Amino acid sequence: MNQRETWTGRIGFILACVGAAIGLGNIWMFSWRLGAYGGAAFLVPYFIFVFGLASTGLMEEFAFGRSQQKGAIGAFENVFKDKNPSLGATLGTLPVLGVSGVFIFYIIVVGWILKYFVLALTNSFVGMDIANYFGQFAGNSASILWHALAVILTLAIVKLGVQKGIEKTNKFMMPTLFILLIILMIRSLTLGGAMEGVKFMLVPDWSKLLQPVTWVMALGQAFFTVSLGGAAMLVYGSYLRKDEDIPSSALQTVAFNTSASLLAAFVIIPAVFAFGLDPQAGPPLLFITLPNIFKAMPGGYIFGVLFFLSIVFAAISSAVNLMEVPVEAMMDRLNLSRGKSTLIVALLGFIIGLPLDTNMAWFGKFADFVTIYLVPIGAVLAAFVFFWVYGVSKARQEINRGSSRPLGKWWEPFAKYVFVAVALIVLILGVVYGGI
Ligand code: PFF
Ligand code: NA
Repeated sequence: MNQRETWTGRIGFILACVGAAIGLGNIWMFSWRLGAYGGAAFLVPYFIFVFGLASTGLMEEFAFGRSQQKGAIGAFENVFKDKNPSLGATLGTLPVLGVSGVFIFYIIVVGWILKYFVLALTNSFVGMDIANYFGQFAGNSASILWHALAVILTLAIVKLGVQKGIEKTNKFMMPTLFILLIILMIRSLTLGGAMEGVKFMLVPDWSKLLQPVTWVMALGQAFFTVSLGGAAMLVYGSYLRKDEDIPSSALQTVAFNTSASLLAAFVIIPAVFAFGLDPQAGPPLLFITLPNIFKAMPGGYIFGVLFFLSIVFAAISSAVNLMEVPVEAMMDRLNLSRGKSTLIVALLGFIIGLPLDTNMAWFGKFADFVTIYLVPIGAVLAAFVFFWVYGVSKARQEINRGSSRPLGKWWEPFAKYVFVAVALIVLILGVVYGGI
């Protein structure tokens, strides 16, 4: 048997996780929620949930993967080996399916982003009816080519493996992403009227903290933004060496991911206000509002290019992580080479996504089903299996292995009861609210 691949070291691992975490959620959800749910006041529940709870989910997924040296299916199977290994493998398939589902629709959006990067590069926003254009492009066969391109680009990286593909590209993309966001933030903040946007984000509306929906959205954001689904961060953890520090890696991933969200908000919202537009959530923000801004802004050509390049990096680095999940599962379960496995996943993912390319209603339904049900179910399952079936004291030992500041005994009831309950609450609230 071949030796399992590993990261070259701590920095490579953290940057890969940061790349996985920072994605569309940071760009088109966070800034909008920040404004809509109380500005600076929203940061209170968000920080509590992301640093206090989501970080525990990251430690759990990293340590679960590392302790079993497998992705979710194999890891669940191992934990159940004395009881019922096939039940374990079956349960472990759910998180893998959930994350693969995210891959299927996410990669379509990566295709749109690639198209818009090229539009920016060719200065095509000028003289274009952008709202109309997006309506014609997304949900239409014209987007299929870009979908294919996104799959091929991601495949090219994943095929090269953990060190030469995933780690290497993230080591380039992540620092560049932060530099780009800082440059873009400076441009945005120096636009006339930008301060209105800063106020919108930062003037706290404490009354919003009295509304449960604020806390619900902060909780959903915290879990989704660090990719808790029981498979994505778990597979990256499975390539970790035993002497790496998991608690501090988890906290750094949360910190970088949060910084990226804040930076993106400071890029987007001030520019939106400077042009008297409405801050939006989701695709219209990226594909209509912002291109309209670049069209009108001084230096809009170059800043448009840099902006879409930064989104390409944010999205591709997440797509790579998403693709790695089914790829590892195929390699491990079917004994396929990385090359073959990558090719099969790419082809299957593309074909299953094809109907979504031409029907935005299906696209929405598919994305909702995956993110409301499958991903939160995966997160609950992984937490339950690791903390309850594997056992919380062994789990703590695994997390503490290689850590300079090990977690104390107090952490065990917190992980076993509080964290698992909260993961379940995320699932239930998502179903009740139709997505959080
Ligand atoms: N963390 C990603 C984002 O914020 O865009 C989304 C995500 C990826 C969620 C992978 C869940 C997952 F398993
Ligand atoms: Na994120």
